[in-house]
Amino acid sequence: MASYKIALLDGDGIGPEIMREAIKILELIATRNDIEFELDHGAFGANAYFEHGHPFPDATKQLCDEADAILKGPIGLSHEESKKIPVDMQPERGALLPLRARYNTFANFRPVFLPKGLAHFSPLKPEIIGDGIDFIIIRELVGGLYFGKKETGINEHGKRYVSESLEYDEDQIARIAKVAFDTAQKRKRVLHNIHKSNVLKSSVLWNEVIGEVSQDYPEVEVKHILVDAAATYLCLNPGQFDVMVMENMFGDILSDQAGGILGSLGLMPSACVGPDKAYYEPAHGSAPDIAGQNIANPYAMIGSVAMMLEMSFNLEAEAKNVWHAMQSVFTQGYSTPDLSSPGVAVNMISTDSFGDLVAAELAKL
Ligand code: IPM
Ligand code: MG
Repeated sequence: MASYKIALLDGDGIGPEIMREAIKILELIATRNDIEFELDHGAFGANAYFEHGHPFPDATKQLCDEADAILKGPIGLSHEESKKIPVDMQPERGALLPLRARYNTFANFRPVFLPKGLAHFSPLKPEIIGDGIDFIIIRELVGGLYFGKKETGINEHGKRYVSESLEYDEDQIARIAKVAFDTAQKRKRVLHNIHKSNVLKSSVLWNEVIGEVSQDYPEVEVKHILVDAAATYLCLNPGQFDVMVMENMFGDILSDQAGGILGSLGLMPSACVGPDKAYYEPAHGSAPDIAGQNIANPYAMIGSVAMMLEMSFNLEAEAKNVWHAMQSVFTQGYSTPDLSSPGVAVNMISTDSFGDLVAAELAKL
């Protein structure tokens, strides 16, 4: 029997609630595929800081080192609570970026998917949504401004100043470009390259390398779009996109905008893949305002499980089944209060009931 270790990092806020639903799905998949998933929880995030003195404790690092894959919940506390944590120990800087750096998870996949039946979640008009939204953002995740040199101090005029640098070398660009071209090759063979080469030198090099890598993918058409224009097109005509590739900060911002056109970041799972290890996480935050109320939708968390099944364990058919199960719970008219939009008639259920229904649908497939 195949046996895999999965490190579960519940995180903060709604993290533990949605993790419970993800576990239901993993357990069902394990039983019916004769697989063993060894599931171990590790402390990670703001709560880990308060309980263990560090947001990414050594014990969690070891757990992750030994795991075949990592499933991570959202992290972070309210603005007020965060202030109780020293800046470098806050979970984004103290845990999440170090997790990405530790496993060099340079390739971030963020599918932006809303089938026609779920179009009512989107704030866009039906005529713009057409047959639904279906594209994927591929974001470089371990370079650029978020990982560049940082300096703060007092300048020669006695003024406080800050400097942060955006650095990429050609290898870092080429490896994410290959991931993007490979993905485009498997889909519609159109790749949108997002850049800002009219201003940033980093984008000039980025585009050069994209051009070089494209030589190996003659069947993929590359379309270049400035990042600011891409933000507009995402609202006006998201249907034109299939695969989009971009550097770290552009991807951070545009993927949140993409969550907006779906209607919620709660509908966006993600995969963060490195050379030897991958971790999976919902792209949304920890929603401290609704934590503990059993109303958060576990879709992005369970979707992250689906991505793990496909990308880490080669269980492609089961990954599809998980997606189908979730869609059918939605199309039967169920939703959770956090996702509901005013005026839409839905049968409002709790986080755990939603997870139960997904598991029941999955059991039928
Ligand atoms: C994301 C998040 C993170 C990022 C934060 C929490 C550091 O916004 O995964 O998009 O900026 O990458
Ligand atoms: Mg973000």
